[in-house]
Amino acid sequence: MLGRIVMESNGMHPRTLAVDIGGSGIKVMVLDHEGHPLTERDRLETPQPATPDAVLEVIQTLAAKQQFDRVSVGFPGVVRRGVTETAANLDAQWIGFDLGTAIEQRLEKPTRVVNDADMQGLGAIAGDGVELVVTLGTGFGSALFLNGKLVPNLELAHHSFRKGETYEQQLGREALDAIGKKRWNNRLGKAIANLEKLFNYDQLYLGGGNSKHIDQELPANVKTVPNVAGLLGGIALWRE
Ligand code: BGC
Repeated sequence: MLGRIVMESNGMHPRTLAVDIGGSGIKVMVLDHEGHPLTERDRLETPQPATPDAVLEVIQTLAAKQQFDRVSVGFPGVVRRGVTETAANLDAQWIGFDLGTAIEQRLEKPTRVVNDADMQGLGAIAGDGVELVVTLGTGFGSALFLNGKLVPNLELAHHSFRKGETYEQQLGREALDAIGKKRWNNRLGKAIANLEKLFNYDQLYLGGGNSKHIDQELPANVKTVPNVAGLLGGIALWRE
């Protein structure tokens, strides 16, 4: 009996602390070895200004309440080998910041960092064919997969969409607040039509905190995914 209990508890390891750094909130959740949640999602407001130090403080506060063996982080910008290269909705100090190493030093656990939409996608896709993921939050996240393999750092956000504005300017949180749900949904429909022609995806997933405001009939190859996918994708960073 004791042996079984020990085995079962070992089976839960390694425990992964998944961290989703967003423009308005920083969220964490602990996942078991298969990626199932072991805790509720915990969240604190993103500090303003969202400098690396301020954000790391918040992550440390959230992490202090949890037990885990390794850390997966989704960051809202381009990430290469743990270094953050862009951060449109955070602070300029993030450009060239080694976030992976900074978290490893603070939390003393192995850490992997990817773009937030990439992490969200890893938690949402079926792993078959061409799959595009768009996250609707403070920013406009995007991720592309072929048969489950990620093409890292696809950045649609700052590309021209319509009326001289980018996808993020037309569909990010500020736009939603400014124009309201009806017009935002109308724009979203146009973006979906554009992206379908550009990528010819088999499946498009719409996630992120504002996907709850989607109020329109979606094409058969488009579906919404819960925002928690942003954290659940954390397990995939450790699959080689
Ligand atoms: C960034 C992306 C990010 C997205 C969602 C955009 O502004 O450029 O890297 O995935 O926001 O957070």
